[in-house]
Amino acid sequence: MKIAIASDHGGFALKQNVMMYLEAEGHEVSDLGCYSEESVDYPQFGRTCAQAVARHNADRGIVICGSGIGISIAANKVKGIRCALCTSVEMAKLSRQHNDANMLALGGRLTELPDALDIVRAWLTTEFEGGRHERRVNQLNEM
Ligand code: RB5
Repeated sequence: MKIAIASDHGGFALKQNVMMYLEAEGHEVSDLGCYSEESVDYPQFGRTCAQAVARHNADRGIVICGSGIGISIAANKVKGIRCALCTSVEMAKLSRQHNDANMLALGGRLTELPDALDIVRAWLTTEFEGGRHERRVNQLNEM
């Protein structure tokens, strides 16, 4: 899968680890920054990653800031993006099954690495259920 990933400084360390995991799993990863722990502003990184997904330059996107909140808000401002901030495997699965989330947000300061990797694995391997959920996702896409 082609996966775009971006973070701010608060998510930088987790981004590096998630990238290593994704590459080891055979995914094609596009790192859209940031590139150090120097303080940056999360909105631009959330938008850049979301645009890569919305323009079909990537199949999925993963964004990480300190809490996951700010960067998910930024990503969700891009039309066509359904970015889910997930703190558990159950949320990750539901975000795929019910919401067809095309982006995942993580909190680099709130989610431990093993949990984050479990969340990423679940999110990447769970399919959208369609059916009644498709109607609702279509309504989201119209907004
Ligand atoms: C940066 O200090 C922090 O505010 C940011 O990473 C994120 O948590 C915002 O939602």
